[in-house]
Amino acid sequence: MLEKKEKSWMNPAPRKRGGVNVEDPTLREDLSNYRDEFPITRTCTFLNHASRSPLPNRSLQAIERFLRKSREDGAEFDEEAFQFLNETRELIARLICASPQEIALFPNTSMGINIAARGLQIQQGENVIIPEKEFPANVFPWLNLQRDSRSGSEGVEVRFIPVEKGVVSPESVEELIDEKTRAVSIGFVDFSRGAKRDLERIGALCEKKGVPFIVDGMQGVGVLNLDVKRCRIDLLACGGAKWLMSPHGTGFTYIREGFQKKIQRTYFGWLAVKGPENFEDLLDYSFKPFPGARSFEVGTYPYHDFYGMKESLILLLEIGIKNIEKRVFTLTDLLIKKLEHTSYSILSPLDTCHRSAILSIGGKNLEGVFSSLTDAGIFVSKREGGIRVSPHFYNTEEEIEKLVDVLKGIT
Ligand SMILES: Cc1ncc(COP(=O)(O)O)c(C=O)c1O
Repeated sequence: MLEKKEKSWMNPAPRKRGGVNVEDPTLREDLSNYRDEFPITRTCTFLNHASRSPLPNRSLQAIERFLRKSREDGAEFDEEAFQFLNETRELIARLICASPQEIALFPNTSMGINIAARGLQIQQGENVIIPEKEFPANVFPWLNLQRDSRSGSEGVEVRFIPVEKGVVSPESVEELIDEKTRAVSIGFVDFSRGAKRDLERIGALCEKKGVPFIVDGMQGVGVLNLDVKRCRIDLLACGGAKWLMSPHGTGFTYIREGFQKKIQRTYFGWLAVKGPENFEDLLDYSFKPFPGARSFEVGTYPYHDFYGMKESLILLLEIGIKNIEKRVFTLTDLLIKKLEHTSYSILSPLDTCHRSAILSIGGKNLEGVFSSLTDAGIFVSKREGGIRVSPHFYNTEEEIEKLVDVLKGIT
C-alpha cells in the first residue's frame, strides 16, 4: 500500500527508504546521519522525549505541503486523502504488530482510555485495577465512573496496585483481581521513574482470569519494542507527541478485533460509516459502520497533524524499533556508568525487564540542578523528586557526556 503512487503534493521528493541494517556495527554512524532531521541538535541538548519530541524536518515539510496546498486550492478531501489515513493506520499497525483494521486514529491517549472506561459498561459493585502513582490520563477516566449516577457506574471501585519505583508486579495485580473485576489498565512505562511494565506476564494473567487488559502506551510506543498480540492487550491508547515524534493532536488506539464487539460505543459519527467518504451518499442514513476500529472514529481529523505523523512513523520504521531501543539503552547505560561513585543516585529500576528509555536521577537540590541544566542548554524534566532524562535514537554519547559534566560540576 505504501508503495502505491501518491499524489505529488503528499510526497513530492523521492527519498531513499532503504533503512539501516540491524546487524551493522556502524549503527551509530547510520543513526548519526539522521541528526540533520533535527535542527534542535544545533542549538541545544534535547533529552526530554518523555515530555515531547522535536518534530523531524520531513514531518514539518509534509505538514507545510498540506497547509500550502490548503491555502492554494483548499486541499480537497477526496478518496486519496482518506487513502493517506489508511496508510497511517497501516504504519501504526506495523509498529505494534497489529492489523490496520484494529487501529483508530485519535488526537490523544485519553480518548482511547475513555472508550474502554465508558464502553465496558462497568456497573456499581464492580471494580477496575490501575497502578498507584499513574499518569492521570489513565486515572481520571476510571475515577469518573464513580461520579456518574445515570450510567449505573456510580460506586465502581477503583483499586490501586502498589508500585515500587514504578514497577508493577504481576503478583500484586493477581491479588487484586476478583470475580467483580472488569478491567486492568496500566501504563506501558511509568511516566516518572520509567519502569517498563511486564505486559506479557500481566496480559497472560488477565487473559487467564477473563479480564480486559487496557494499556496506556504513551511512554513506550515508538522507542521500545511492543507486540500487542504477544502481550494479550485488548486496547492500547497512545498519543503521538512524545516517542512517536509526531505533532500534538495525533494519536491512535489499538482495539483488538475480538474486543471491538465488547465495547459499547459512547459516540458515533458520520465518518464511522461507509458512504460519506465520496461525499455523494451523505443522506443515506442506513447504519453501515466501517469494519474494524475505524468505526470508533467520529468526525473530521486534524489532517495536517496526521500528515506529519505519517512521515515520523516512516522515519521510525525505516530505522527499526529494535535498533532504536538498542541505541537508547546504549546511551542510558553510559549515563548510569558515568554517575557511579557520584552523589547522584538512579531512581529508576535497572533490571533488564523494567528498563525503558527514561532514566530518573535523584540527588540534593534538584531545583538547582534543574536550573543549571537549563542554563547549559540541556532539556530534561523534573518529575516526582527526580531529574527525568529521556534520550531518543538521534542523541549522542557526547550529549550524555555534556549532561554528566554539568551534573558533576554542580556537586
Ligand atoms: C503515561 C502518559 N500517558 C498519557 C499522557 C498524555 O495523555 P494525552 O495524550 O491524553 O494528553 C502522558 C503525558 O503527557 C503520559 O506520560
